[in-house]
Amino acid sequence: MVYVGWYFKYDTSNYLRLKIKVAIFASGSGTNAEKIFQHFQGHPSIDIALLLSNNHKAFALQRAENYNIPTAVFNRQQLYHSNYVVDLLLASDISFVVLAGFMWLVPQNLLKAFPNKIVNIHPALLPKYGGKGMYGMHVHQAVVENGEVETGITIHFVDENYDEGDIIKQAKCEINPGETADEVAKKVHELEYEHYPSTIEMLVGD
Ligand code: GAR
Repeated sequence: MVYVGWYFKYDTSNYLRLKIKVAIFASGSGTNAEKIFQHFQGHPSIDIALLLSNNHKAFALQRAENYNIPTAVFNRQQLYHSNYVVDLLLASDISFVVLAGFMWLVPQNLLKAFPNKIVNIHPALLPKYGGKGMYGMHVHQAVVENGEVETGITIHFVDENYDEGDIIKQAKCEINPGETADEVAKKVHELEYEHYPSTIEMLVGD
């Protein structure tokens, strides 16, 4: 009996160690991050192992703690003028990085350490409404002001520029006459929740 108990204990820990570890970067509220935590809870092969933020006040950190996911906060110097973030990811055995409302540009050392292994979600149909300054509500305000009849989400690989990496997936929604930027933001968030976790699962599982 003792032997059987020991055997199962050994087997379980070995199994857990083989999971692919994913890190999420988030700067603000972290509703997308939370949907991702929920999606991968108890997943047999993918583990959301770390939540990183450039903002110590980001509510995303609290959301991660609620799911017992380890967190780390870094500053500009650590991201852009040291290897701190890359070292932290490697020390944590991370093999895939997900940006979920992360507002800073990803530096070269991080791109090099994770080639084609960093993805982002943008709340518009790129290449429209992308680039510096186009994030969060700014995007939805511009979309409504320009009288667009549709908008959506873009999931893409990350490169050294804002919102320019290869597109992996897009999904659209209509904008009805008179809809406000807040209403559009809500619809777009729903699209994000529907598509981001499953797309991450597909990419990490490949
Ligand atoms: C999301 O809509 C995401 O697409 C957007 O920030 C929001 C974060 O919301 N990202 C960008 O604009 C990146 N350019 P969340 O913190 O509730 O997930």
